[in-house]
Amino acid sequence: MNRTDGADPEGAVRAWRGLADTSVLLDGFHAVKHALRFDARVPVALTSDRPAVLALADELAPDVKDALDELLTQVPDDRLRALVPRLHPTAMAALAVRPSRAANLEALRRPSRSAPVVVLDDPRNLGNAGAVIRLAAGFGATGVVTTGTLDPWHPTVVRGGAGLHFATAVERVEVADLPPGPVFALDAEGDDIRGLKLPDDAVLAFGSERSGLSAALRERADHLVSLPMRPQVSSYNLATSVGMALFHWSAGRPPGPEA
Ligand SMILES: C[S@@+](CC[C@H](N)C(=O)[O-])C[C@H]1O[C@@H](n2cnc3c(N)ncnc32)[C@H](O)[C@@H]1O
Repeated sequence: MNRTDGADPEGAVRAWRGLADTSVLLDGFHAVKHALRFDARVPVALTSDRPAVLALADELAPDVKDALDELLTQVPDDRLRALVPRLHPTAMAALAVRPSRAANLEALRRPSRSAPVVVLDDPRNLGNAGAVIRLAAGFGATGVVTTGTLDPWHPTVVRGGAGLHFATAVERVEVADLPPGPVFALDAEGDDIRGLKLPDDAVLAFGSERSGLSAALRERADHLVSLPMRPQVSSYNLATSVGMALFHWSAGRPPGPEA
């Protein structure tokens, strides 16, 4: 019997309601695809168009098609929209279990890390934070930590991260509790990054969109580093800066399938 025959829309909707407040919303096909690829636990996935989602999996992500076939329950469109008001155009959503903070902190604090940790010091823009998590996942960074009040697991950040919160360790910490490793703080007044090799255990810190690096982060920094920028340009966008710094780190490593 395939999953469509055995599906229980009422049971799936009940499961959704029971889990929604404590789970991570995966919004649309690409977020669910990424989460499954990086071993997220996904207890419930709903769609109003199962054949279309499975066809998309055939076309774009055959590696997750069997998992989706097993997971996806078809529900009427109005029921789905009542649960997920801003439904993604791919007409699907899922709930995932948030990884344990203890496990993430352990990964972030591992002494011999093989890839940097990105620190966002008091970021304000949820979209920027999501874009940074996507970059960190793409480059194989150990994780992204934020200081300040922004929740890096806020649904808008998860949406911006395209489900890639499960591919890197994402947590909020205090500046005093940053992961170990030399801190390279990015600031337009620092030394030119092109003269430096960033070590694999680097902690790459970036300032807030509005006010740059905090006094506490500057105090904790071992190096102040700048990205090349023409005079009269004040600064780059936060996520763009993270992308350039991670690219600089990766360019100092041998080419290969891993970032
Ligand atoms: C939008 S900028 C912040 C601008 C802010 N007005 C300031 O005074 O720094 C956000 C962050 O991106 C990084 N950044 C932007 N442009 C940079 C540059 N040219 N060199 C190094 N870091 C840069 C810094 O970490 C900065 O704190």
